[in-house]
Amino acid sequence: MEQKRQKSVKGFSKLSKEDKINWIANNFFQNPTLVQKELMSFWHPNAKQQKILDGFSENTLSNFVMPYGVAPNFLINGHTYCVPMVIEESSVVAAASSAAKFWSTRGGFKTEIIGTTKIGQVHFSWEGNYETLKAVFPKLKEKLIEDTLHITANMRKRGGGILDIELLNMTHLEPNYYQLKASFETCDSMGANFINSNLELFGKTLTHFFQNSSLFKGKEQEVNVIMAILSNYTPDCLVRATVECPIEQLGNFEGMDSKMFARKFNTAVNIARIDPYRATTHNKGIFNGIDAVVLATANDFRAIESCGHAYASRDGQYRSLSQCLVEHGVFKFWIDIPLAVGTVGGLTRLHPMANRSLELLGNPSATELMSIMASVGLAQNFAALKSLVTTGIQKGHMKMHLLNILNHMEASEAETKQAVIFFEKEAVSFSSVRDYIATLRNNNQISTLKN
Ligand code: HMG
Repeated sequence: MEQKRQKSVKGFSKLSKEDKINWIANNFFQNPTLVQKELMSFWHPNAKQQKILDGFSENTLSNFVMPYGVAPNFLINGHTYCVPMVIEESSVVAAASSAAKFWSTRGGFKTEIIGTTKIGQVHFSWEGNYETLKAVFPKLKEKLIEDTLHITANMRKRGGGILDIELLNMTHLEPNYYQLKASFETCDSMGANFINSNLELFGKTLTHFFQNSSLFKGKEQEVNVIMAILSNYTPDCLVRATVECPIEQLGNFEGMDSKMFARKFNTAVNIARIDPYRATTHNKGIFNGIDAVVLATANDFRAIESCGHAYASRDGQYRSLSQCLVEHGVFKFWIDIPLAVGTVGGLTRLHPMANRSLELLGNPSATELMSIMASVGLAQNFAALKSLVTTGIQKGHMKMHLLNILNHMEASEAETKQAVIFFEKEAVSFSSVRDYIATLRNNNQISTLKN
């Protein structure tokens, strides 16, 4: 097929949505009418809802649909949750559900909030004597807090606000480079806007302070604020989720007794603590679950991912986020993970489905949501490792992937029904399903001819 020539455009952002679609359809596709219809077919039937969705981003043409599912039976700290998950990969929701069901009869998930502190930085350069800067810093800190009182008022009423501001001398790494490192408590919000507003004002106060202080002369009066922005690395906004039970309660798996299972499982986790190649896949499995809940609640999955991976490398080597201990007849499996999430603010209440997700979870606080996400991550990891050290991953994964393959082959409803029954006892692969459907269609043709 001949490829249409790619074109550039001026003033695209100013076009109406319909005109944007027309331009895209006419300039990049062989069948513009089909593409126009297709893009518009994913618009929300309620124009008001569509307007809200359009507002989340820019140059919006349509909606990109993802499956919205639930994993029931998550017993966490004594409460049973039905957890919403948005994910496009087969077997993830089934795996989380299966692990939730498994642990619900073994005490469930227990969590501990280790901290909720978030971080922001003002990076600046200054040519002067550090000792002088250090000496005036207490006064500057007072002024930084005073100047932001109007921004922090509501957050302080909720029990949050600015926790501390430190001055860091970074000149050993970059000439004249200093940092204001501030810590914040943002209660039930993720707090990005709150933190950034404070930091930008810190930058202004800082500049003003140096210009107007009689202590500084000439160049010393000039502070160059490089940037003011939150850090998505929040190692002190941390939650631990744990499952544990006597080894014999684990039961037998595919002919493997509980002791052997616990030993193999423990070794699999240790391998992911030692080997970054394995750790990356291991943690990907954890984020299968966490990202799905982060998306379902319209939290920021890029922030959660980058923070999680930075935390996994905190001692200089990338390692598994989960850990296992098999000791004194007890199997213990846990995860420590930083999760800066919110249940108010951002899109959490604006996205119609995220709002429903939060309702489904009983309108949790941010710390409760941290507990739920960490538990889902641990469950996901447990299910994947359970499969890996017993049957191998393909059996369960491909069983769930069967419908995708059948859809790809445009299998009819009757063919799908027969295939699902047939593959209950057969290994699923693309070629085995293709061969099965071909045989089925061939047999049908022969019987039609005979009749
Ligand atoms: P199974 O034993 O065949 O399932 O496991 P079952 O039919 O006996 O059902 C048991 C429970 O599993 C069900 O209980 C459900 O909770 C759940 P019930 O609802 O009947 O009371 N379940 C389902 N839930 C929803 N829809 C379904 C469904 N089927 C079972 N259709 C299962 C099947 C897939 C659960 C199992 O084989 C499994 O957990 N496999 C692991 C799959 C996995 O981890 N997938 C993630 C993608 S692979 C990956 O990207 C990560 C990885 O690379 C990470 C790593 O290397 O560490 C693996």
